Amino acid sequence: MIDQLRTDAAAVIAGLGDVTNLDVLGEVEREAFGKTGFLSGAKKGIGALAPEDRKDAGRAINEIRGEVEAAIAARRTVLKDAALIVQFEAERLDLTEIPSSDAAVGHAHIVTQAWEELEDVFVGMGFRIAEGPEVETDWYNFDALNIPPSHPARDGFDTLYVNHGEPGKTLLRTHTSPVQIRTMLDQEPPIYTVAPGRVFRRDTADATHMPVFHQLEGLVIDRNISLADLAGTIEAFAEAYFGPGFSSRLRPNHFPFTEPSAEYDIQRPDGSWLELGGCGMVHPNVLRAGGIDPEEYSGFAFGFGIDRLALMKFGVEDLRELFTNDVRFLSQF
Ligand code: PHE
Repeated sequence: MIDQLRTDAAAVIAGLGDVTNLDVLGEVEREAFGKTGFLSGAKKGIGALAPEDRKDAGRAINEIRGEVEAAIAARRTVLKDAALIVQFEAERLDLTEIPSSDAAVGHAHIVTQAWEELEDVFVGMGFRIAEGPEVETDWYNFDALNIPPSHPARDGFDTLYVNHGEPGKTLLRTHTSPVQIRTMLDQEPPIYTVAPGRVFRRDTADATHMPVFHQLEGLVIDRNISLADLAGTIEAFAEAYFGPGFSSRLRPNHFPFTEPSAEYDIQRPDGSWLELGGCGMVHPNVLRAGGIDPEEYSGFAFGFGIDRLALMKFGVEDLRELFTNDVRFLSQF
C-alpha cells in the first residue's frame, strides 16, 4: 500500500512541472488532498492493516503528504513570480519617452539665456564665476568701494534700504560691485572672476530702466595688470559674445571705486556705438578694503547690465517687455 502511495505521490510531483497556471495548480492540490484523493484513500487503508504495522504506515503517509505539499508550495512560488513578471511587463511605463510634439515646451527667459551665454564666454576666457548676496550691508555696497557715508555718489544709486537692524545699514545691493570686495576677502590673488547677479534701485520703470535688473561684474587682480589688459579683455569679450566685426572703445568717466575710470562702448559692424557699462583700474582704497596690498597687486573691474545686452542682441526696444511675462512675447526668443 505504501509503495503504491509513493508511486502516486511521485507521479503528482512529476506532473507539477507541466502545471503552468495557478488555477490548475489549485485543482491538482484539491485532487491530491481531497476526500477522493489518493492520500485519504491510503488513510482509510490503515484500518485494514495489522495493529503493529499501523504506526509505521501512518508516519509514512504523513511524510509523503509533506513531500507533496512542499512540492506544490514550491511550484506555487514559481508560478506567482512568473505572474508578477508578466504583470510588470504589461504595466510598464516608458519614462524615457519624449512628450508628443503638441505638448507645450518652454525655454529659458532671454535674460537667463544672455546670463548663461556670458558665463560661457568668460569661463572660456579663463574666468571663474563668483557670487554674493542680494541683501547687503552698506559697508560692502558703499564704504569698501571707496564711497564713505557722506559721499554724493550714494544718492546717485537710488538705494532701497531694508528695515533691519540699524537704520540705513542694510540694503538691497545697488550693483554687483560688492562682490568685488567679497571675492578679494575670500581669495588670494591672482583673481579672475565674473559675478552675474540681480541688483535693485529705487527707479521708475521706463524703456531703459527697471527697479530690478541684472549686472555682470568682472574683477581681475594680479601682478602688473594695466589698463591695456582691461581694454583687451573688453575687446575679446565683445567679439566672443556678439560675434566677429564688433569692437569696443573706452571713454573717460568717474567711479569712486576705480581710478582711472571709463565707460565702454561696443561698436556694431554697421559702425554705430552702444554704451555698455563702466570699468576702470581698481582704486587702491578698494584693494586695501579687500585685504590686498596695492603696492604688490593691481587690477581692473568692469560692470554692465545683462538686460540691456539681451535687448540689443534680440532687437527688443523696451526693457519693460522683458518682464511682462507674456508668453506670446517671450516665446519668440
Ligand atoms: N558698479 C558700477 C555701476 O553699477 C559699474 C562699474 C563696475 C564701474 C566696475 C566700474 C567698475 O554703475
